[in-house]
Amino acid sequence: MINNRDLAGRIIVALDVGDKEAAFSLVRELEFAKTFKVGLKLFTAEGPSFLRALRAQGKDVFLDLKLHDIPNTVSETVKVCTRYGAHLMTLHASGGRDMMNRAADAARSEAENQGLPKPSLLAVTVLTSLNDRSIQEIGISTDTKEQVIKLAKLAEDSGMDGIVCSPWEIEIVKKETGQDFLVVSPGIRPAWSSAHDQKRIMTPSQAIEKGADYIVIGRPIIAAPSPSEAFDKIVREIKDQ
Ligand code: C5P
Repeated sequence: MINNRDLAGRIIVALDVGDKEAAFSLVRELEFAKTFKVGLKLFTAEGPSFLRALRAQGKDVFLDLKLHDIPNTVSETVKVCTRYGAHLMTLHASGGRDMMNRAADAARSEAENQGLPKPSLLAVTVLTSLNDRSIQEIGISTDTKEQVIKLAKLAEDSGMDGIVCSPWEIEIVKKETGQDFLVVSPGIRPAWSSAHDQKRIMTPSQAIEKGADYIVIGRPIIAAPSPSEAFDKIVREIKDQ
């Protein structure tokens, strides 16, 4: 029987705020949330000490830096992020097989050397802000869905632990990749929340039903009048689906 704590663990809260004061105020309020996503903005503002402080509060860290560079630079950066104790981190699948292979090796060896758990490496396939036309403009001739599948398979084959994709691709990616390959989806909107700038959205229950291992939710929780009530409401909705 799946309990509320397990369900809460599948919701990753995006800490899309500008400084540690705003971030910790949310972390304090969301006592049942286990994993928080730290993106480029907050990480650039507050740096590694913020990650250590988050971990010291017993929270898991999803470090969403979407790395994309030559294999040496990415693998060395993955080592540093592993030392920060990130549980999940992202890199672009379009960086290629060698970049992903080297990143996976770096995470494994650094975790072993430091006696830390190995972070799960998630590949970003096609950004949800891109559509068929925009990927053609950058020289990709397939459509976005085909490109997502192609990159998901390459990521799996290159030692990644999972991918980030829109909820509309969860089912097909789950079908085309192994059972343990993680699928993490942003673009989640409860029926009672505004879509904001997200276009290809699904409700939390639908995304979990399609097979998402984790869902990433920002504004519907962090910009709600009561973030903790919004979080609890989402957990209840998933449970009652
Ligand atoms: O506020 P909202 O729920 O839209 O936040 C979603 C989070 O997931 C943001 O941090 C956003 O940058 C991230 N994300 C996304 N789409 C992707 C990858 C990441 O919305 N393809």
